[in-house]
Amino acid sequence: MSTHVCVCNRVTEDEIVSWIQRGVVTIDGLGEYCDAGTGCGDCQDMLEELIGDFQTDEVASRPAPEARGCALSDVIHGIRQGAWNDRKA
Ligand code: FES
Repeated sequence: MSTHVCVCNRVTEDEIVSWIQRGVVTIDGLGEYCDAGTGCGDCQDMLEELIGDFQTDEVASRPAPEARGCALSDVIHGIRQGAWNDRKA
């Protein structure tokens, strides 16, 4: 099971990597294509890491849609961040 990197929009690591490998190599682009990072923005450091790890030379990004508010609590974000840190360890 793939880790939810963006809990606001329920976007998994596998989905994000798939978009990066198709040439979406900016945070704005990921927001446009799969909504990752368009809520509270707390996942954007992780998106940058994934872009660095998986980007190709192809760039096909667009401006991100307007950001939406995040209804999730800091506890949920902390749990997600812990899972991410464990993955990177
Ligand atoms: S966790 Fe990705 S925008 Fe809130």
